[in-house]
Amino acid sequence: MNRGFGNPRAENNPNRHGPVKKMDAKTTRSILLRLGKYVMKYWWLFIPAIVFTLLANQLSLLGPEFSGRAIDAIASEDGVQFDAVWENVGKMLLCYAASALLSYTLSFTMIHLSQKIVCTMRRQLFEKLTSLPVNYFDTHATGDIISRISYDIDTVNATLSHDLVQVMTSIYTVLGSLIFMWNISKPLILVFVVTVPVSILFTRFRSKKIKPLFSKRSHKLGELNGYAEEMLSGCRTIRAYHREDEIGGRFDSRNTEAMDAYYNAEYYGATLGPTVNFINNLSMSLIMIFGGVLYMFSESGAVKEGALFFITLGGVAKFVQYSRKFAGPINEFANILSEFQSAFSAAERVFRILDEEPEQADAPNAAALVKCRGEVELRDVSFGYTPEKQILDHVSVLAKPGKTIAIVGPTGAGKTTIINLLMRFYDVNGGNILVDGTEIRELKRDSLRSAYTMVLQDTWLFNGTILDNIRYGKENATLEEVKAAAKAARIDSYIEQLPDGYDTVLTDDGINISKGQKQLITIARAMLADASMLILDEATSNVDSRTEIKIQEAMNELMEGRTCFVIAHRLSTIRDADTILVLQNGKITESGSHDELIAKGGFYSTLYNSQFH
Ligand SMILES: Nc1ncnc2c1ncn2[C@@H]1O[C@H](COP(=O)(O)OP(=O)(O)OP(=O)(O)O)[C@@H](O)[C@H]1O
Ligand SMILES: [Mg+2]
Repeated sequence: MNRGFGNPRAENNPNRHGPVKKMDAKTTRSILLRLGKYVMKYWWLFIPAIVFTLLANQLSLLGPEFSGRAIDAIASEDGVQFDAVWENVGKMLLCYAASALLSYTLSFTMIHLSQKIVCTMRRQLFEKLTSLPVNYFDTHATGDIISRISYDIDTVNATLSHDLVQVMTSIYTVLGSLIFMWNISKPLILVFVVTVPVSILFTRFRSKKIKPLFSKRSHKLGELNGYAEEMLSGCRTIRAYHREDEIGGRFDSRNTEAMDAYYNAEYYGATLGPTVNFINNLSMSLIMIFGGVLYMFSESGAVKEGALFFITLGGVAKFVQYSRKFAGPINEFANILSEFQSAFSAAERVFRILDEEPEQADAPNAAALVKCRGEVELRDVSFGYTPEKQILDHVSVLAKPGKTIAIVGPTGAGKTTIINLLMRFYDVNGGNILVDGTEIRELKRDSLRSAYTMVLQDTWLFNGTILDNIRYGKENATLEEVKAAAKAARIDSYIEQLPDGYDTVLTDDGINISKGQKQLITIARAMLADASMLILDEATSNVDSRTEIKIQEAMNELMEGRTCFVIAHRLSTIRDADTILVLQNGKITESGSHDELIAKGGFYSTLYNSQFH
């Protein structure tokens, strides 16, 4: 899971973007409430966990009490009371053993609980992602989304499974030890009046100083990670331009910066342990000194039993043990607090996706598109991805059922944009798109999208067999149908000569086959799908000309009776289209058949002649 440098805890998690932000109280409260809801969903695990925590801590708090009693039984004025010694030692052991057992059960329960929550969160996040509009993915970096699914949820998980119990334990232990110490000797507690504030002040001072250093460290590690990722994905280009030395140098400087940041953070972090130890030892020594003095007076009879300053030897021993228990959580508190803070910002990043508006719901009276004839009309359509930049400007196109419409135009003219609009990945800003005479916004999205089959500019294959990848177009297709489609796409002979044939597993995104072969597989997939409209966006751009012509023949068969939108830079493929549209600067500047456009002698004829003469 953890693919980068460092671990997923937010403090040193490089893939979080930017430093851990300070959150206002309201946001913190709402996140806390929301996390609480997740926890309470599994109350049947959480409530036992609380009970286990309380019991385990109570038992471990009883340990020193019994050890103190055992010491008193040894130091008794009437000689060593063996029975009492054994009894108390036995009870002490029993308490500690039972506490350990409960702690074990507790950890187990909490891991179980946090895993359930994480699983739920991941599922919700994933479901949300599948319902978000395409626009979301166009405007958010994939890496960032992935880091929310993995790193941020992991951070929340770590806090839930570990820190939550830690907080409950800390509070219980601090209060419990205080009560025990109060019962043993009130005057000795005064020692803490000096040491606790010192320790709190120090940890606060330190965390203030260290936090920015940790943020800087995450930031620097993030940069290093990002750089490494970029270089790995571009390794071929780097080799081709012989830039290995240069990028090595740049890596070195980033690496050094990251290590410096790491050193600084760790350096100040490392000063904490010895200082806290020093304060702890100091308070323990003070307790021993004052406890010893009080014990001397008590022993000599100067202080009577039951008086405020009375203490036994066992009492001093108990007190020392409780003081250690008491000081531990106080010193840890600052750490836990910062871990909670990072978990909160991680949770916030997750919740932000969950709160994202899903793709606009279908209109309430939306009709399903049934038995689509395949008549598509763009009526005075205007569109821009952003208000500032208009991509399509009052475009009108009528595609009669079964006809082939080819769209040509310079790069960036908006050809793919038209496809985005036809599929309703985006909605038009002005005008209408009609399918079989119905405005597409009045149709159910699912039914509209399934009326189309498409082969896009970016091929997409998933990690699975070739058979499954082709069958993606029609789930219940038989092997014969798949083979026929592969044959039509001219990829059958290639597939058959593979050792595993149709069962060959394609690795991520089909890296183990060539770009052209990938396109042919997606064409086969589209041929299998039974839809009345077909979209081909540069579908054969990576295929050699001879294969392209052969596919074209097969395609002509396939296109029979289907309305087709074909975008191609190689004009030979669209010669036979019923209508060719030339899209320039957001407008349709020419339209007609191949012969008509050639005769016209405009943009198309110039382009065509430049390709063939
Ligand atoms: N998701 C998007 N958000 C914002 N702008 C976009 C988006 N997709 C494309 N554009 C912009 O819209 C314009 C048209 O892009 P489009 O992909 O439709 O061009 P195209 O005609 O298909 O070009 P090509 O022949 O290179 O495929 C371009 O200027 C592009 O920068
Ligand atoms: Mg395009």
